Amino acid sequence: MEKRGRAIVLSLLAGGMAAVLMLPAAFGADTSKGKAVFEAKCLKCHKVDKFKKNRSDRKGWEMTLRRMERNSCILTDEETNAVADYLAKEYGE
Ligand code: HEC
Repeated sequence: MEKRGRAIVLSLLAGGMAAVLMLPAAFGADTSKGKAVFEAKCLKCHKVDKFKKNRSDRKGWEMTLRRMERNSCILTDEETNAVADYLAKEYGE
């Protein structure tokens, strides 16, 4: 019985730790997802240099992402948000 109680406490601890590790993502501080989508989708057609010259704020980047849909670069809303966050952070004004 005592052993089982300890196992429960341990698993609660592990769950708590996992929640703490996931917090930055929930608050949008982690742009690694946007970076991954950007590298997979945008760098197919563009070189990174383009973005160093093409600075914009987050709203501007979001509009660019929407415009790229014309060039058959379709992103989900979630991906658009993630990439806009990433671009605004890396290539913001
Ligand atoms: C299938 C190829 C293709 C993909 C994928 C693509 N683009 Fe483009 N992009 C283009 C073409 C073609 C142009 C030039 C014509 C235009 O502006 O539509 C362009 C122009 C641009 C420009 C400069 C002109 C402007 O409208 O501001 C930016 C910045 C840009 N793309 C960003 C991106 C980003 C960010 C992504 C990823 C979400 C992306 N592109 C994905 C083909 C692509």
